[in-house]
Amino acid sequence: MPDAQVLAIPGSLRKGSFNRSLLVAAQDLAPSGMRIEVFEGLREIPPYDQDVQDQGAPGPVRAFNESIKAADGLIIASPEYNYSVPGVLKNAIDWASRGKPSVLEGKPVGLIGASPGNFGTVRAQLAWRQVFLFTNSPVMLRPELLVFGAADRFSKSGELTDNDTRKFLREYLAAFADWIALHSRRPAPVS
Ligand code: FNR
Repeated sequence: MPDAQVLAIPGSLRKGSFNRSLLVAAQDLAPSGMRIEVFEGLREIPPYDQDVQDQGAPGPVRAFNESIKAADGLIIASPEYNYSVPGVLKNAIDWASRGKPSVLEGKPVGLIGASPGNFGTVRAQLAWRQVFLFTNSPVMLRPELLVFGAADRFSKSGELTDNDTRKFLREYLAAFADWIALHSRRPAPVS
């Protein structure tokens, strides 16, 4: 059985993004049988415009869609902006949601997020669940991963140093491997 391929999408363009760093840590903490690629093309996705779409999706959008299509599951690490989702990532997901069926149709999704504040992106995650309801993408129910107080959990160079968070992330990824198996009829990994 080939490894489960996971596309990990950070919702921030910031160089020192906690959310991107969380996904880089996930690459190390993934269970055997899961390979995680971090999507680096968010900045290149243009603002959604149906007139542009009608002329054919731009190259960066096509590349994003292909990466989603090739993945067995998506993990989204989203910041919370103003109690909701960040516009740059919502824009990319809006592009990906076009098509019949869209590349998001039936795609297993894991939502995680980090915030320097006290609530660890809980409101953004709830808002994302509403978005993925429309796209018919099964979002893992539990566990949740809400990384609050993020500034204390990463080193200056962006390494995830907090042991509790590393443990929760490892458990989250193991559960997500099961979630992918459930939704793709892949056999669950032997633990
Ligand atoms: C924020 N931030 C924020 N944090 C939070 O917990 N709840 C919120 O509603 C908001 N709102 C918000 C709006 C805008 C426009 C910005 C720029 C920031 C703070 C945010 O959590 C913080 O900047 C994170 O560090 C962003 O994630 P990355 O870039 O570190 O991945």
